[in-house]
Amino acid sequence: AQVMVPIVDTLTGFAMATVIVVGGSMVLSHSLDVGVMVAFLFYIQRFFDPIRSLTMQYSVMQRAMASGQRISEVLDVPVDVSDKDKAVKLSRDMDGSVEFRNVTFGYRQHLPVLKNVSFRVNPGETVALVGPTGSGKSSSMALVHRFYDVWSGQVLVGGHDVRDLTQDSLGEQVAMVLQEPFLFSGTVLENIRYHKTGASREEVVRAALAVGAHDFIENLPDGYDTELEQ
Ligand SMILES: Nc1ncnc2c1ncn2[C@@H]1O[C@H](COP(=O)(O)OP(=O)(O)O)[C@@H](O)[C@H]1O
Ligand SMILES: [Mg+2]
Repeated sequence: AQVMVPIVDTLTGFAMATVIVVGGSMVLSHSLDVGVMVAFLFYIQRFFDPIRSLTMQYSVMQRAMASGQRISEVLDVPVDVSDKDKAVKLSRDMDGSVEFRNVTFGYRQHLPVLKNVSFRVNPGETVALVGPTGSGKSSSMALVHRFYDVWSGQVLVGGHDVRDLTQDSLGEQVAMVLQEPFLFSGTVLENIRYHKTGASREEVVRAALAVGAHDFIENLPDGYDTELEQ
């Protein structure tokens, strides 16, 4: 489709050249007024302009179709983590403990990332997992969120195996801050409350205060209403 625009441009050029050569000789032999020839040149432009924009729209459309295909590929990925029939809700007043019991997990068969890992984080404790890149820190966090199921062993949150919980209730209680921050176009306020669109301004400010971002945000040109752009 990218070759279409140059082709249309070339055709326009040829058409104009023809008019100039043929019309020019007719003007010279006094069988045509100069004004008529100039008018024809404009007609040619007016004729090719819509064709040119059509071909440009066509290439935009092709690009959109390619992107759309990519999106539906992602949407078509089979879901392999789903709620059990008897999944229970993780209650809001659970103790907040996290425990790994002999967890073995990996992404590809026979290539475990975590091998027989056990640890317990008690309520109120802060724990840092430290290790070289690729040692499985992010994978462990993905398991707490149950983005994947373990191969063997158990991951417990609040004393429940994450496979016994509904994914919705687990997602409400587990928060994950990613290594690479991602911001949406919109205001700072909207970015903070994108998971809970009904959150009031006060709730957003309270959340920002809790993570120590309030002062930083207040110092932005429009505070919480600063527009973020990519
Ligand atoms: N989505 C994935 N698919 C396949 N392999 C993965 C995926 N995510 C991570 N891995 C592999 O798992 C191992 C642990 O990765 P990761 O948990 O990201 O480690 P860390 O966060 O400690 O750097 C690495 O070898 C990595 O290549
Ligand atoms: Mg990581």
